[in-house]
Amino acid sequence: MAGDSFFFFFFFFVILFLVFFSALACDRCVHPARAGYSSSFSAFSAGTCGYGSMALGFAGGHVAAASSALYRGGVGCGACFQVRCKNEKVCSGEGVKVILTDLNRRNDTELVLSRPAYLGMARHGMADELKKLGIVDVEYKRIPCEHENRNLSLRVEEKSRRPRNLAVKFLYQGGQTDIVAVDVAAVGSTSWQYMSREHGPVWRTDRAPAGPLQVRLVVTGGYGGKWIWARQEVLPADWRTGSVYDLGVQIADVAREVCSSCDSRDWQ
Ligand SMILES: *[C@@H]1O[C@H](CO)[C@@H](O)[C@H](O)[C@H]1NC(C)=O
Ligand SMILES: *[C@@H]1O[C@H](CO)[C@@H](O)[C@H](O)[C@H]1NC(C)=O
Repeated sequence: MAGDSFFFFFFFFVILFLVFFSALACDRCVHPARAGYSSSFSAFSAGTCGYGSMALGFAGGHVAAASSALYRGGVGCGACFQVRCKNEKVCSGEGVKVILTDLNRRNDTELVLSRPAYLGMARHGMADELKKLGIVDVEYKRIPCEHENRNLSLRVEEKSRRPRNLAVKFLYQGGQTDIVAVDVAAVGSTSWQYMSREHGPVWRTDRAPAGPLQVRLVVTGGYGGKWIWARQEVLPADWRTGSVYDLGVQIADVAREVCSSCDSRDWQ
């Protein structure tokens, strides 16, 4: 009997714990914020996520710098958000979808959108009005990223030196999860070498096996992790810095959180 109630309370607290922390992590809920814009494209190509000029090609140049709460030390790089301004006279109810590429250090707004993204929040014919406002009240929520006709890919960073020193940047990460672990192994081998997050979307190791290489990663959303495994050759033996390699897989998972009260449906 005592044993039964012990287990009852044990599971009760485990469930309470999971519900509590996943509610905290429920980042697809809608949040209020202030958003401004930057018309300087060079600011975004110098973004702290390190996507360079590539960032301007993401989502038609709909990119954003966000405060540290969304940037999360770089883990938030590449995450997608839907943002709409609350001025119904000037702004559409749908808002825009943006990709996070930079840390916003301004203290007057949480979000700084690229100019096309900011103006994209406007109702038809109201772009000039919105531009005049400069900074507006918005609401935003995290949404799954959709990279049409793109698989998850790796760009080999310039600091890499074949074969041992390998630094890769993840590109076109779909879904709504965070990458929390990355391993590489020679194709056909079970001897996996872990990589460490260097910053934002860049992971590195100084002990890469000789190629060709396969790659696996763990993604999480709320609680629970999932392996994403590119079993075929991802990097050839003669991988080159500056080249982008397709993993042949894509992530479509949405965070498995207990946040039904704020579940994500696209704003129309
Ligand atoms: C925000 O930054 C400006 C200058 O960059 C500074 O003058 C102001 O005191 C800051 N405000 C807060 C609340 O930190
Ligand atoms: C994505 O990966 C699949 C499976 O490996 C492949 O058939 C497809 O061509 C890839 N898509 C693109 C756009 O490269």
